[in-house]
Amino acid sequence: MREIASLLLDWYDRHARVLPWRVPPGQGGADPYRVWLSEIMLQQTTVAAVKPYYERFLTLWPRVEDLASAGDARVMAEWAGLGYYARARNLLACARTVAKNGGFPRDREGLQKLPGIGPYTSAAIASIAYDQPHTVVDGNVERVVSRLFAVETPLPDAKPRLTELAARLTPTERPGDYAQAMMDLGATICTPRKPACVICPISGPCQASAAGIAETLPRKRPKAAKPRREGVAWVVLSQNAILLEERPASGLLGGTMAFPSSGWDGSLMPPPVDATWQVLDPVTHVFTHFTLDMEVRFARSGAKPQRGVWVDLKDFSPDDLPGLMRKVWTRSLDAIRRDQDS
Ligand code: ADE
Repeated sequence: MREIASLLLDWYDRHARVLPWRVPPGQGGADPYRVWLSEIMLQQTTVAAVKPYYERFLTLWPRVEDLASAGDARVMAEWAGLGYYARARNLLACARTVAKNGGFPRDREGLQKLPGIGPYTSAAIASIAYDQPHTVVDGNVERVVSRLFAVETPLPDAKPRLTELAARLTPTERPGDYAQAMMDLGATICTPRKPACVICPISGPCQASAAGIAETLPRKRPKAAKPRREGVAWVVLSQNAILLEERPASGLLGGTMAFPSSGWDGSLMPPPVDATWQVLDPVTHVFTHFTLDMEVRFARSGAKPQRGVWVDLKDFSPDDLPGLMRKVWTRSLDAIRRDQDS
């Protein structure tokens, strides 16, 4: 096991990816605020997508105290597009708790009591920021370990075994670099399809590579097909404003500004104003647990709405909307142009 860790660390010394939240190999701990922020952003989102968001957040809020004193709406708007909005709400709640307590806890148990920090993020902060020998286990690590030991039990049943094997691999020296080396190996060499075993630093001890089955691991229990849901979104323009509403804090796209909508989130609502609606083609959006077909209806009206608020067009920026609502807006643009031309 020691040999595998040291092969990986040697490889990391030569090939570590340069990432904005990262301290170069061998230089020890990173700022816990930066590690925490990057790890929350990286959950369910790719490194390429996260980079610009991370850099913008750090410019706006260089310390956890700065983020803690930012307004909710401002942070939600900057988060827009990263998805999984519960993460952004937890991010703010966590920043405020940490700022009040005078800094991040220095142990994994303390970290895990904070909003939005579970076993993965607490291990990432403890290892990467504090260089403590905790084991980070995410999908990448599960893939690497399942191949290294040719674990053929399908996920999720294999999780406890893979977690145990991953913990046995974790060295007491440079655990932070080791955690990031595993992440880089999973992202660049031990990839889901077509793993590059010929250039892999640990192909020697890798049992799946020797057996020629690396690409088939980890095995997965077949997934149930995602259910489809349907909904309606209403885009209403007055002379110089657009109708938006803040979504309830708990639930889908919670706390974001959005077009009034109905059906897809379990709520059934009438249109926000009485109007003659142009029915546009639906947009499709894939959520974690379902696929949504959302019909888009457009109208011009200056009537007093039953819900929502008029947002002046000069203050309206579609980039601040969550991805689904951005699609709804893009779908409406043609109708808006036609309407203006007529
Ligand atoms: N994916 C999740 N966390 C990461 C990190 N710290 N570096 C690179 N990729 C990651």
